[in-house]
Amino acid sequence: MEKYVIKGGNRLEGEVTIAGAKNAALGILAAAVLTDEECIIENVPSVKDTRVLLAAIENTGATVKYIDNHTVSICGGTIQNGQELTVDDENIRKIRAGYYMLGALLGKYHYANVALPGGCDIGARPIDLHTKGFELLGAQWEIVKGGKIVVQADRLIGTHIYMDTVSVGATINIMLAAVLAEGKTTIENAAKEPHIVDVANFLNSMGANIKGAGTDVIRIRGVERLKGTEYSIIPDQIEAGTFMVMAAATGGNVLIKNVIPKHLEAISAKLNEIGAHVIEYDDSVRVMSDGRLKSTHIKTLPYPGFPTDMQPQMAVTLALSEGTSVITESIFENRFRYVRELEHMGARIRVDGNTAMITGVESYKGANLIAPDLRAGAALVIAALSADGFSTIEDIRYILRGYEDFDGKIRALGGIIEMVDNEREEQKFRLKVG
Ligand code: EPZ
Repeated sequence: MEKYVIKGGNRLEGEVTIAGAKNAALGILAAAVLTDEECIIENVPSVKDTRVLLAAIENTGATVKYIDNHTVSICGGTIQNGQELTVDDENIRKIRAGYYMLGALLGKYHYANVALPGGCDIGARPIDLHTKGFELLGAQWEIVKGGKIVVQADRLIGTHIYMDTVSVGATINIMLAAVLAEGKTTIENAAKEPHIVDVANFLNSMGANIKGAGTDVIRIRGVERLKGTEYSIIPDQIEAGTFMVMAAATGGNVLIKNVIPKHLEAISAKLNEIGAHVIEYDDSVRVMSDGRLKSTHIKTLPYPGFPTDMQPQMAVTLALSEGTSVITESIFENRFRYVRELEHMGARIRVDGNTAMITGVESYKGANLIAPDLRAGAALVIAALSADGFSTIEDIRYILRGYEDFDGKIRALGGIIEMVDNEREEQKFRLKVG
């Protein structure tokens, strides 16, 4: 099994280029099947989640071609319309975003049969808001044998949907189902994340009529058909944030390129508050730190609040900062599973329900760690880079789902990290780096 071996203690310095946004890509790739024409999508991050979704899209009968490592052509015109629109394989069951095929296939063919979503174990993660939206548009749904959900409709008719909870996935899924519906759909209390706006912009470039994405009211006027398009996905806010925090935690100086600084404001504000220094340019940010950081309080919130996907990375940093910090996780109830791992490194964190009380320590010591999920895994990498001595991180398959060439990018910044597959490779690396 692959794992990372990391020798901590180096300040990260240099430049890193951020890939396309995973969570925007997942919505956009699914959306591409809404037209029979070819869509060319650029800046697709080359990560496990996008590859799994693309394989599932291909299995529906769509034509999927990689033009290069980050550019994909999808043509939904080869999908056979009928009752066999099934999205299921061993891998799609492990990711969350397979559910976007529900909205996309329902929108186009009025029928979808999709494996129930998996994804990181960070909480209950129900899909009631997705199904509620589909029902209001006129669809029926049921969970069928084999852990699949079938959604179908004779007609999809525009409607008014109020979301009880702000949900990224449900907002995107309802947009996908509503763009070809008859009449007007309004989504109230919609999610406002940058990837919502990116999916809406992509759909609009296909000829959809979506207004208000990025605000809490999205208005969609159904159109009869969508056309092919060429589109480039926005940079990944969370990959960028992860490298920003990594620079701060290691007392480094890193220029993070290909970002939209506006999307990073909540992260920049917290880093400035704890004593790092963030400079914004047009499409890059520089993060500098002398390693002496202070405590703060953080509450995760839907965008533009502090993202839950950055909570573990900040916690790792605050656990090395002077004073007591409090983190309140208000989106997912199971997002503190990294705390047990950090304790092996000497961190002092007490979790009570959705709150973590962090008492900063001077340093971490290297340890053998297990990545509990994607962002927590990235956070443990930051901890290991900041620690004294060697650490290993197992279960990195979670990290590979969302970060492209994570170890390569860290090495280019001077971090000492290697992905190894067996004991011999690990020993070789340890001997090489001393
Ligand atoms: C998306 O998950 C992201 N995943 C997550 O990214 C991210 O953490 C999350 O949004 C929040 O920003 C993808 O985009 C593939 P939600 P999603 O629906 O859509 C509740 C990462 O690390 N809810 O916005 O599943 C839910 O329980 C990941 O890249 C319902 O109650 O999240 C949660 O409390 C992990 N009913 C809240 O809403 C529903 O039907 C927000 O969840 C749906 C959600």
